[in-house]
Amino acid sequence: MCGIIGVASKTNQALQMILQGLEKLEYRGYDSAGLAYVKENNIVITKTKGRIKDLEEKINKQDHASIGIGHTRWATHGEANEINAHPHQVGKITIVHNGIIENYQELKKKLESFGYSFRSSTDTEVACALLDYYYQQTKSVEKAIQVFMKEAIGSYAIGLLCQEEKETLYALKKDSPLILASSKDTNFMASDIPAILEYTNTYYLLDDYEYAVITQDQISFYNKEGEPLQKEEKHYDATKEASSKGSYPHYMIKEIMEQPDTIWKTMEPFVEDGLASLKKLPSLKKYDRIDIVACGTAWHAGLVGKYFLEEYASIPVDVCLASEYRYKRLFLSSRVLVIFISQSGETADTLAALKRVKQEEGDTLGIINVKDSSIARFVDRVIYTQAGCEIAVASTKAFTAQVAILILLALTAAYEKGTMKEKEVLTFLEELRHLKAKLTPLLSNREVYQKIAEELYQKEDIFYLGRGLDYDLMMEGALKLKEISYIPSVCYAAGELKHGTISLVKEATPIIASCTNPLLDPKTMSNLKETKARGAKIYLITNNEELAKDKDIDSVLLLEKTSEFLVPFLVIIPLQLLAYEIALLRKCDIDKPRNLAKAVTVE
Ligand code: AGP
Ligand code: GLU
Repeated sequence: MCGIIGVASKTNQALQMILQGLEKLEYRGYDSAGLAYVKENNIVITKTKGRIKDLEEKINKQDHASIGIGHTRWATHGEANEINAHPHQVGKITIVHNGIIENYQELKKKLESFGYSFRSSTDTEVACALLDYYYQQTKSVEKAIQVFMKEAIGSYAIGLLCQEEKETLYALKKDSPLILASSKDTNFMASDIPAILEYTNTYYLLDDYEYAVITQDQISFYNKEGEPLQKEEKHYDATKEASSKGSYPHYMIKEIMEQPDTIWKTMEPFVEDGLASLKKLPSLKKYDRIDIVACGTAWHAGLVGKYFLEEYASIPVDVCLASEYRYKRLFLSSRVLVIFISQSGETADTLAALKRVKQEEGDTLGIINVKDSSIARFVDRVIYTQAGCEIAVASTKAFTAQVAILILLALTAAYEKGTMKEKEVLTFLEELRHLKAKLTPLLSNREVYQKIAEELYQKEDIFYLGRGLDYDLMMEGALKLKEISYIPSVCYAAGELKHGTISLVKEATPIIASCTNPLLDPKTMSNLKETKARGAKIYLITNNEELAKDKDIDSVLLLEKTSEFLVPFLVIIPLQLLAYEIALLRKCDIDKPRNLAKAVTVE
């Protein structure tokens, strides 16, 4: 995680540019922040335990600079305090770092034996000392970087300033993202595109074991041997508005509201010309099994995908957490496809799992939101979701876009394999044309969620229950609630509750459940009644009018009846909105929840 930015400008506005860029990167980590800039002959460092606005207040208002680096941290090594905040300075070298130096203890011992001492608890300060050590030996930053790349194990995107070359910035990377960009009078490095969108939407990608030398006039690229590289200019297809909140109070609500558009935009290229467009999706015919690998919300999207791929296309699917998959025994063959799902395309565990599958020559497909991200570039084939910039830490529109692609993959496979008839596929494609009209009423009805939120926001815990597809969706609903409102929310398969967890249900315990499958609904209802008998209060989402009338249900959200393919969207949007309204009443920092960060680029 962490956001880093570096600026080398012909103007004297580098400080403002760094601060603006850090604000745009704050979603990547926000427990402390800092920057370093060149003032006259010195490198000035300002840091704070707080947020970017606190950093802004600490900066000397009279200062102007043309060159500098900035950082917004998500601590991995050492608590979030001012000493551990970046930039770190050792000897002649000052750096900001995103990632983890895994062999930092060993390197620290070695550097201590050379006379270095350390103030912070971070791995970053050790990396800085190592760079300084080799700089002192060679009197060349580039040489120091080249040796560093051989010796440092782990992940890093580093922005570097050297006391003796105050007109140059250096950028190096392995396994953590870093882009370079130029506007008419300024050159940049940044963790992600939103940081530079104000100035330009063209950029260059730095690959692993490469570095860049940045001055106000140019950016030059090199490989780890120091040989110059030519880089292809990339274009980002969005304006700066795409990464702004507009008139919404939070990114999360803006992103929830965008879903009718983003789901449709994601599906459109594959459905616009009916069956012919579906052929643009990869064929799954030759696969006997699919493994889906992802983390968090993307993993939940994988669970929804499994449901549709198994039910409609008869392909067995395992959905695996990337952090487990990367270390477990894999059973790959040419008849197994591994699908990686990720919004950021940078999640460290997902990327590591992908690298492992590639090593074992497995067949890979990515469902990714961020264009040209590491995972997108590494998979054999990529399908991009069209969710646009997702800034809120709690993922919403990326989830529904991922589900949209998985549903289309299942539909295509079902059609190819003949497990779904052409007529059924065409009926669904026709229904899709009315998707926006079906979703919009759910979004325009905020009072409904506000009323339930009033009842729930002071509860100590909330249960989410469901069976089958409803269970998958409830898991995502429960994650949304806990990550932004901090209310412990437990999600259980409805039938499993009685095997232990029902002991937690007492008078007025809120249970949120969804029933959208006629075969499973009576079973779930029985489980809900078991909780009611113990005093629970039941909030039900259903498309079954009969269930909605049941006297044991305390509150009902009745959904329109649709084909099952649309159910995930209809169920999850209310759960996202409910989590949002509850967090709002609890006065939580909705877009930047405690301890979290958007792109989890560390293991
Ligand atoms: C979602 O609300 C979470 N913040 C988190 O679980 C996220 O989905 C997970 O870290 C995976 O991220 P990715 O999609 O960028 O790989
Ligand atoms: N390891 C560094 C630190 O703890 C950087 C953390 C990160 O990139 O998330 O400060």
